[in-house]
Amino acid sequence: MFKQLPNDAAEKVEVILNQQTVLVPLGTTVAAMALAQGLRATRTTPVSGAKRAPFCMMGVCYDCLMIIDGQANQRACATYVRQGMQVETQQGVGPLLGDVL
Ligand code: FES
Repeated sequence: MFKQLPNDAAEKVEVILNQQTVLVPLGTTVAAMALAQGLRATRTTPVSGAKRAPFCMMGVCYDCLMIIDGQANQRACATYVRQGMQVETQQGVGPLLGDVL
């Protein structure tokens, strides 16, 4: 459904998405990477557990919250991928401060 235009000239970085290593062009947002990888939901809601996925892609709706490098509630659409970045789908409010992932 969501396809990224090919860009063979772009430098690629390795990102770990839900324990899977993927190669992603530098300059890609985490949300775009997740959608291009076929992820159907980036988080679940804290109350009902309903699945949510990136919607606005510009930092407004907060439906794209993910755990990025151990930090919960990060807007995936407002974060660019980096080499070695670890990204996880967030369940509810995510790990509380001090929790070990
Ligand atoms: S997709 Fe709306 S805030 Fe990220």
